[in-house]
Amino acid sequence: MSDELPPITPKMLREAIDARRTFAIISHPDAGKTTLTEKLLLYGNAIHLAGSVRARRNQRSATSDWMAMERERGISITSTVLQFPYKGRMINLLDTPGHADFSEDTYRTLMAADSAVMVLDAARGVEPQTRKLFEVCRDRGIPIFTFVNKMDRPAEDPLALLDEIEEVLGMQPVPMNWPIGEGNSFQGVFDRRSEQVYLYDRTVHNQTISPETITTLDDPRIEAGLSATQFDDLHTNIMLLDELAAFDLDAVLRGEQTPVYYGSALTNFGVQLFLDDFVEFAPGPDAYPSDVGDIDPYQPEFTGFVFKIQANMNPRHRDSVAFLRICSGRFERNTTVKHPRSGKAIKLSRPYKFFAESREVVDEAFAGDIIGLPGSRYFGIGDTISAGDSFNFAPIPRFPAEHFARLINLDVSKQKQFQKGLEQLATEGAMQVLYEADAQRRDPILAVVGVLQFEVVEARLLDEYGVTTRREMLPHQLSRWVEGPEAQIDLLPWRYSMMKTVDDNGRLVALFSSPHELNFYAEKYPEITFRGIA
Ligand code: G4P
Repeated sequence: MSDELPPITPKMLREAIDARRTFAIISHPDAGKTTLTEKLLLYGNAIHLAGSVRARRNQRSATSDWMAMERERGISITSTVLQFPYKGRMINLLDTPGHADFSEDTYRTLMAADSAVMVLDAARGVEPQTRKLFEVCRDRGIPIFTFVNKMDRPAEDPLALLDEIEEVLGMQPVPMNWPIGEGNSFQGVFDRRSEQVYLYDRTVHNQTISPETITTLDDPRIEAGLSATQFDDLHTNIMLLDELAAFDLDAVLRGEQTPVYYGSALTNFGVQLFLDDFVEFAPGPDAYPSDVGDIDPYQPEFTGFVFKIQANMNPRHRDSVAFLRICSGRFERNTTVKHPRSGKAIKLSRPYKFFAESREVVDEAFAGDIIGLPGSRYFGIGDTISAGDSFNFAPIPRFPAEHFARLINLDVSKQKQFQKGLEQLATEGAMQVLYEADAQRRDPILAVVGVLQFEVVEARLLDEYGVTTRREMLPHQLSRWVEGPEAQIDLLPWRYSMMKTVDDNGRLVALFSSPHELNFYAEKYPEITFRGIA
C-alpha cells in the first residue's frame, strides 16, 4: 500500500466512482470521430485549440510503414484514453482505432467502456464499421448515444435517418434536438427539452469554442435563413416528434433506446449541448461479471482487468504497456496485487494516467478509470488483477476476424521459438491462431481483424524471436464459432471455401469465403449456431 494517501470513506469512494463517465466513440472511418473527439476535448477545456489530435492521427496514417514509425517514436499511448474533468464529472474517453489500425483492439476497447457514442455521417447513415462496433456494444448491453454529424453538408432527411437507426440497429431512436435547416442553410438546433433554439455562426474549421445564440422558434432569423418549405417542414416535424416515443432514461440504460443529437462537429454546432446531456445521462461504472459473481464497483478492494497491450516496436526498449480498466475500489500507487494467471504478486509502482496531451505517473485512480502499466511481460489480454482475493473476471470474448493467412516458419531449427512467439503474441491479443482441423498440414492460420496485424506479427517474430516466416493469404472473409449437434456439424459441406479449423481453446471455427455463404448455411442448418462473438 502507498503510505502517502489519506484513507477514504465509503461515501467519498462512491462519489468519486459515480462521477466517472468512461466511454468510447464508435463510427465508420470519416464520419467525424476524430473531429468530435477534439471538440469534446475543446469544450471540456482539455485543449484550447482543436487540431492537435487530428495532426497526430494524420501523422500516423500518412505513413504506410507503420512499423518504421513505431520504431522511431516508441510507444504512442496518449491516444488510448483521454481523461478530463467536466462539470463535476471525470470523463474517460477511450480511443477506438479506426482507419488502417482497425483491429481486435478496437473491439476489446469496448469491453472497458460503460457507454458508447455512435457518430453517423448525416449523408451516409449507418455504415458497415459502425454496425460491427454497434453489435459488440449491444452484445455487452451498454447504452449508446447517437451524434448525427455533418449536418452542415447536404444530409439525408433527419426523419429517414431515425427510421434507418430503428430498422438497421433495432433500437428506438429518440431525437433530443432537431436540426434547423441542413447543408448551407443549417443554422443550429432546437433543443426539445428546453424548447430553445441554439443558433451558431459558421466559421471555417472552428478551432475555438463558438459563440451561440439562444432563442426561440419564432425568432425571425430562423425563417429568414430557410426556404418557405424548409420553414414549414421544421414546424410540422417538431410537432410530429411529440408523437414519437418519449425519452426514457431507463430504456436508454437497457440499450433499447438511443438518444439522437444532430449537429456538426467541425463547425461546433450542437457539440456542447450533446456533451452536457451525455455527462448527465450516461451511466457511471457498473458491476463486471466474474467467476465469483458480479464485482461491485463500490467495493473498497481495487480490482481490474487488462483489455489492451501495446508492445513497443523499438528493439532498444523492449517494453510494453498493459492497459487496465479499474472495475472496483480505489487504486493506489505501489499497491501489490495478485495476478491469478501467473500466481505472482506484482507491485504496481509505475502506473500511468493519460491526459489530453501528456501522460503522468498516477498515485490514485478509481473504478471506471484506465491506467497503463508499463514494463511487465506477465500480463495478457483479459488478465484479472486484484488487491484482495484471487478470482477471475469473465474472459474477454474473441471477435470475428476478417483476414486469414497461413504462417510458415522458414527455419525448422527455430520451431520452438516460433511456437513460443506465437503463444506470446496471441496472449497479447495481436491475433488469433487457428489450425486446420483433420488436416495433415500443421502450419498455423493467423486470423486478424485488421490486415496491418499480419505485418506486426511477422516483424515481431523476426525481431524478438529471430524467426523468419512467410505468409500465404487465404481467400476467406469471415469466421464463426460453430456450435450444435455433432451429427449436424458433420453434415456441413466442409471444403476449402468453407474451411474447418480449431482455435487455441479447441473450439470449432468455420472460415467462410463470403457473408452470402455464411447466410446460406445458417438458414439451411437452423440447429447450428454460428457465433460471431465467442
Ligand atoms: P474519422 O475520425 O471518423 O475518420 O473522421 P474525421 O474526424 O477525421 O473526419 C473526416 C472528414 O470529415 C474530415 O475531413 C473532417 O474535417 C470532416 N468532418 C468532420 N466533421 C465534420 C462536420 O461536422 N462537417 C463537415 N463538413 N465536415 C466534417 P478531411 O477533408 O478528411 O480532413 P480535413 O482536411 O478537414 O482535416
